[in-house]
Amino acid sequence: MSAEVTEKSDNDFYSDAANYWSEIPATIDGMLGGFGFISQTDIKGSKMLLKQLFNTRNPPGRQYALDCGAGIGRISKFLLTDLFDNVDMVEQNSLFLEQAKNYMGIKTPKIGNFYSIGLQNFKPEPKKYDIIWIQWVLGHLTDIDLINFLMSCQDGLKPNGVIIIKENITSSDEIEMDRQDSSVTRPMWLFRRIFDKANLVCYRQMKQHNFPKGLYTVYMFVLKSKKIK
Ligand SMILES: C[S@@+](CC[C@H](N)C(=O)[O-])C[C@H]1O[C@@H](n2cnc3c(N)ncnc32)[C@H](O)[C@@H]1O
Repeated sequence: MSAEVTEKSDNDFYSDAANYWSEIPATIDGMLGGFGFISQTDIKGSKMLLKQLFNTRNPPGRQYALDCGAGIGRISKFLLTDLFDNVDMVEQNSLFLEQAKNYMGIKTPKIGNFYSIGLQNFKPEPKKYDIIWIQWVLGHLTDIDLINFLMSCQDGLKPNGVIIIKENITSSDEIEMDRQDSSVTRPMWLFRRIFDKANLVCYRQMKQHNFPKGLYTVYMFVLKSKKIK
């Protein structure tokens, strides 16, 4: 993604997004742009993918997950804390993280760290995570920052660990800019190129089914470092 697409400096791209999210209520509906009713279907699809992964040879462990762009902790609460012993959250909006502390309810003891920082500035602790889950946030990173972030995520994985990205994909094959929330939606070819540049191989890909018509197509990508055989 280049300046021609966003017509913004990187600073404006990030600060406009932060301003947008600062006005959004800390609710499920807020996190999902008024589509809170798709949350259960979304979680069901994600759970199916993770359960399949746990049944493969050399599956990821179930000790520690990282939820990136966690918002109020929707995914941590309904997906990750069900399947992992511990979960860390990283989210740029500190008010969302404050709300997460209430929202997690009885799941709170499973939450380790609440990192209040943009993904473009975040580096996971080395070799800590079995899964790094990144959903509906990557449109807020520039291509370069996304590549660098994905490279540092690889350092944060345990030996059988994987990065899972769940994102909207354009059907136009073009990069589409949303000026309201200062994000981009990428086409499949661009994700593929970014994975390659980040030294990642996508060894499993699954389309999310049963979302209402009119929404972007959503894919889950399971990614491993090319260095690991
Ligand atoms: C569409 S919501 C999705 C939240 C969560 N992933 C979910 O699916 O429920 C996008 C989230 O990304 C966060 N966000 C936006 N830009 C970010 C950035 N640069 N770094 C980290 N989080 C960011 C927003 O504050 C918001 O909480």
